[in-house]
Order: sequence, then structure tokens, then C-alpha cells
Amino acid sequence: MPNTVNAALPEMPITGIVADLLGRLDASLGDVKDALALPPECYTSPEWYEFERRAVFDRDWMVLAHVGTIPDNGDYVSVEINGEPMLVVRGRDGEVRVLSSVCRHRGHVLGDAAGNAKNFTCPFHAWSYDLEGNLTAAPEMNGTLPFEDLKKTACLPRFRSETWNGFVFVNLDGEAPPLAPRLQGLSALLANHGMSELGAISTVDWAGNPWNWKFMQENAMEPYHTSYLHSGIHDFAPAHNCDFTEWDDSDDAAIYREVRFTHLDGGFNVAAKALFPPIPTLTEAERSRIVFAAVMPNLFLGAQGDVVFYYVILPQSAGTITLRVGLLTTWDNLAHPNAPALLRGTLEGIGIFNDQDVVANTQTARGMRSRLAPRSRWAPAEKTLAQLNAWLIKRYKSYAQSLIPIAEAAE
Ligand code: FES
Ligand SMILES: [Fe+2]
Repeated sequence: MPNTVNAALPEMPITGIVADLLGRLDASLGDVKDALALPPECYTSPEWYEFERRAVFDRDWMVLAHVGTIPDNGDYVSVEINGEPMLVVRGRDGEVRVLSSVCRHRGHVLGDAAGNAKNFTCPFHAWSYDLEGNLTAAPEMNGTLPFEDLKKTACLPRFRSETWNGFVFVNLDGEAPPLAPRLQGLSALLANHGMSELGAISTVDWAGNPWNWKFMQENAMEPYHTSYLHSGIHDFAPAHNCDFTEWDDSDDAAIYREVRFTHLDGGFNVAAKALFPPIPTLTEAERSRIVFAAVMPNLFLGAQGDVVFYYVILPQSAGTITLRVGLLTTWDNLAHPNAPALLRGTLEGIGIFNDQDVVANTQTARGMRSRLAPRSRWAPAEKTLAQLNAWLIKRYKSYAQSLIPIAEAAE
């Protein structure tokens, strides 16, 4: 494993509203029967968001892309997450790497949104890098520094990455415990989907969603609202058919639930029917359900019989996120003669549910900014929200406690 960079943000003092909120978290620990929601300011405060950038996004695994979107050597996608521009690249050797996309000359960001490249040449002054990030050209620089010396210090930094089920994750501080051992329950549940072998369509970005990143996972992970907000169109996957899992502190990277359909090969569209042929390795029971999973903090996926749809959540601020939306299915399905129409129908079907969730998330974000915003109790069907908070509070406290010796040493 070559050296990877520790790119964690500088530590921040725990003062003001961040200290206040940390002191109020314990009421959000525990089972759904007892716990409260997080304090509203955890969804609205810019200071708390800065704290999360360090405590959560810098220190855990964040999903960037699925390998199905970069199947060929030289394929790449660009992602900017937690303020850091990156390239997810499949090298000449077929290996997927996560590289900084910041040119080592004066910082121009390299690459298009996605593409296939033999090298990355900076448009500004034509410094060039190979797919492993090595500097291969720097015109005229020999006048100040021999190229052999320059290339020792001017390669694109590589971030620590891990691939699970075809999803490429990055860890910015380089010190997170490995991801896969903390995803055992979900890995077993999804084994027959064979997600690492599935093909993918190009992702689509929905930018400027005016709500906190946690709303996305909360909305997706609780079935309570599906009987009401999605009344009628969600009836084939009723909330009372939802199977939860118990919180397991040693297997905590994912929070997930299953919903059994009222029929075989259900799908999220007005016909409630999967449009593509089913993934052939699935059992009938697996074709009769969907698995909704949050791989915290920023991957949400829904695995049904014919496709897996997924959202890469890209927080922009305390109150704004970009959603990068993707779809996986078998390569055979992608080569289906009617694939364009079936894809369009699948995405439009999911979009009907999403449109309702967009309104709900937007209106909830408004309410959370009110001085009378609630810190609620939950319904039993919101069990996953207590689990999401257990995951978050573990990270919040861990980071805050890691800073205490520094503060004490400074006294
Ligand atoms: S900024 Fe990239 S070559 Fe100058
Ligand atoms: Fe929803």
C-alpha cells in the first residue's frame, strides 16, 4: 500500500454552541421508546456543521462512486467532498485509486466531471500527471528546478480508499478502522445482489437541495412517513411490512431495514412493478423486498429485485446538499434492447417518491430554523432514527474527547 495523505482539517476549539450541543446529546441516546431527536441546531448551525466536517466527514469513510461508472482503464469521475476535490481513477493496471485533483503547480483543479484519460494535463500551464498521479511533464520548469527533483515532490497526493460491494470510499484522515468488518450484517443481506459485479449508468447531480445532510438519511431510513407522505404509491411496500435490525455497536457502519412487498418483483413506480428482468442470483424472497441502507455518513441505497438505486450525499453547508444519484443493474440489463426506455421509467418512478420527499425535507428544514423548532419523541416506526443518532453521537463524542487532552495541555 503506497503512502496516503492525512488531509484532516485543523482541529477546532469546542466552545459556544458546539459545547452547548455536545452537552445536550445524551437525551438522544437509547432506544426509540426513550430517546429524543437531536437538538434542532444540529441541523442548522454552521458551527455544528464545521464540527461535523471534522468529527464525521474527515474521520470516517465517505462514499465517492461505484466502480460500475468507471469500468475501463483510464475511466475517472470527479468528486468534491468536505471541500476537497478528488479524482476516482481506474489506472492502467485496472486498480481504482482516489487522487487529489489539485494541480501541484498553482492549484488549478484537474479533470472534467467524468471521462477517460491517458493522463491529466492541467489547462493552466500544462503540467501533466499519469493515472497514478505521477508528474510526467512540467514545461519550462527545468529553468528553475531539474524535472527529476520536481517530480519527487509534485505528484498528486493519494487518499486512503476502500471498496465495498463496488462502492469506493475515502477516508481523509487515513486512520478510520477498516470499513468492511463493520458492514457484516448488511453485506450478508445483500450478498446475492452481487453489487460489485453490477453495471452502472452515469450519475446525475441534483444540486442545491436546501436541507441538512442528515435529513436525507433520516427521511430514507424511516418507514413511518411512507404511509402518509407517500400514501397510495407506497402501499405495495407498507410500513407494517418493515423489518428492522437491532443496533450492533461492533457492526455499526450501516443502518438498514427491509420492506417486504405485497407481490413478487415490486418496484418503485406507479405500477409498483420492477421494469427490468430480475437480477438472476436473487431468490424469490429477495425479489419480494427492498433493502434500504444508510452506509453512514453519505451513502444511501435501495436494493430491489432488478436494480439498486443509490444517492451519494455531498454536503455543501449546514443547510445545503448535492445529491449524486446513480443506478446499478446487471450488464445484461444495460444491454437490453429496451434499456433506454426501461431506465427512463425506473428513474421517473423513483423520482415520483423523491419529489414528495424533496417537499417534506424542504419544509422540515424551514421548521428546524424556527425558534420554536421541536426536539421530538418518536413513533416505533422511527427506530432507525435512534440508530442513526447512536452512530452520530459515537463520532461526535469520540472527536470531542480526542481534543480534551489538547485543551488541558494548553491550560
Ligand atoms: S496550475 Fe496547473 S500547471 Fe499551473
Ligand atoms: Fe420518502
